[in-house]
Amino acid sequence: MLRGWRTRALLTQEQLAERSGLNVRTVRRMEGDALSRPRAASVVLLAEALELSDAERARLSSAARGLPAPAGAGDPAAGDVPRRPPAGAGGLEAVTVPRQLPADVAALVGRDRELGILADRPASPSAPVACVSGMAGVGKTALAVHAAHRLAPLFPDGQLFVDLHGHARATAPVEPGTALARMLRALGVPGERIPWHPDDRAALYRSVLAGRRVLIVLDDAADERRLHPLLPAGPGCHVIVTSRRRLTWDGDARGVPLDVLPVPDAVALFSRLAQLDAGAPEGDLAEVVRRCGLLPLAIRIAAARLLARPAWDVRHLLDRLAWDRLTELADGQHSVAAALDRSYERLPADQRRAYRLLGTGCHADFGPGAAAALLDTSTPLAGRLLDQLLDAHLLQETAPCRYRMHDLVHEHAAALRPADAGPGGHARRPGLRSRTPRWQR
Ligand SMILES: Nc1ncnc2c1ncn2[C@@H]1O[C@H](COP(=O)(O)OP(=O)(O)OP(=O)(O)O)[C@@H](O)[C@H]1O
Ligand SMILES: [Mg+2]
Repeated sequence: MLRGWRTRALLTQEQLAERSGLNVRTVRRMEGDALSRPRAASVVLLAEALELSDAERARLSSAARGLPAPAGAGDPAAGDVPRRPPAGAGGLEAVTVPRQLPADVAALVGRDRELGILADRPASPSAPVACVSGMAGVGKTALAVHAAHRLAPLFPDGQLFVDLHGHARATAPVEPGTALARMLRALGVPGERIPWHPDDRAALYRSVLAGRRVLIVLDDAADERRLHPLLPAGPGCHVIVTSRRRLTWDGDARGVPLDVLPVPDAVALFSRLAQLDAGAPEGDLAEVVRRCGLLPLAIRIAAARLLARPAWDVRHLLDRLAWDRLTELADGQHSVAAALDRSYERLPADQRRAYRLLGTGCHADFGPGAAAALLDTSTPLAGRLLDQLLDAHLLQETAPCRYRMHDLVHEHAAALRPADAGPGGHARRPGLRSRTPRWQR
């Protein structure tokens, strides 16, 4: 009986022993009929480890006490139905319902159009995928998590959230094999049954998800190579990807490009985070958020700084933001410059050089011809570099073949040393501003 259920669960005697916490000799002796009256506690542990149904537990318990099987109790030889229906994963049963979404933002400001796209689930033969892309700190994760909380009730088999660390500080992007192992474990596959080869892990992942309704958020994807193995095959699942890069796909995917906030939404976000009352001057608030480049990360940092310094008022903050904004827009662990550093560090050398030179040489919007002159290269080559920086969301295209840098990105690029001097080549040029700001005199 025990052997039948162990075989069904695809476990060796050693694996069953490890899973149940029993000695492997005990398992062997029970299977070999050398242990006629096992202890009740051991029987319970085995039943748990084998994920037996109630009927099967009753049968095992009776056999352990030397009693006849109760009527209707599960017989392993008769191929009884396990507790959950087979998932087409060669008998590997995921019994866990993961609920991995991080906390939602307290109140998401704006983004109605993007939420509409994310909530829409088109009929698709493969798992629908939506990819939220945009520059550092624009609100990709906040939007994806908020949309996922809204969609969660439609996915009774669980929600997975994986931070792929595409642009994390001091951490390399997560390789697909590692992400797959984590997701398989979260779906209930025991570690010892996860194959070592990434392709086999991906195949098992698709098998476990087949027929299930799981929502999967893949946050901060670095590139397509690392992302594609993480996409399930069946139509029951739904995937939301976020990335600082514009990613390309073989299959169906809806792109959700995310821009900075409109001024009224930016003011609403700043006022709420800084806990300002309704009396604050609208004009000053609008100017503060403009100096934050309408970027949610910058607005959040500016609001946190104002809130932490009761002696400051909005005018003083404005004054400070008129100077070295990147130095001002840093608070504890959060920093706009550090976020942009991580985008810059991921670029290959030729794109880094182009980024630095564009930051010092191009002030208004510009075309490939001006960029070619600045980069001392041909126009087609300059055009390709501009496209690559566009894909990394370090440039914006204002009209066909017209480019500009976001204000904060421009300051970041301009403040980098002309040559790759420091380790990683991203040391900042000190003292760009020569005059002393009023608040420092
Ligand atoms: N629409 C919004 N409403 C309220 N808060 C927001 C909104 N968008 C972003 N935020 C807040 O702004 C900060 C930056 O947002 P978020 O981390 O989502 O950016 P991101 O685009 O994912 O950045 P990164 O590229 O570094 O991953 C967070 O504190 C987030 O909660
Ligand atoms: Mg993010």
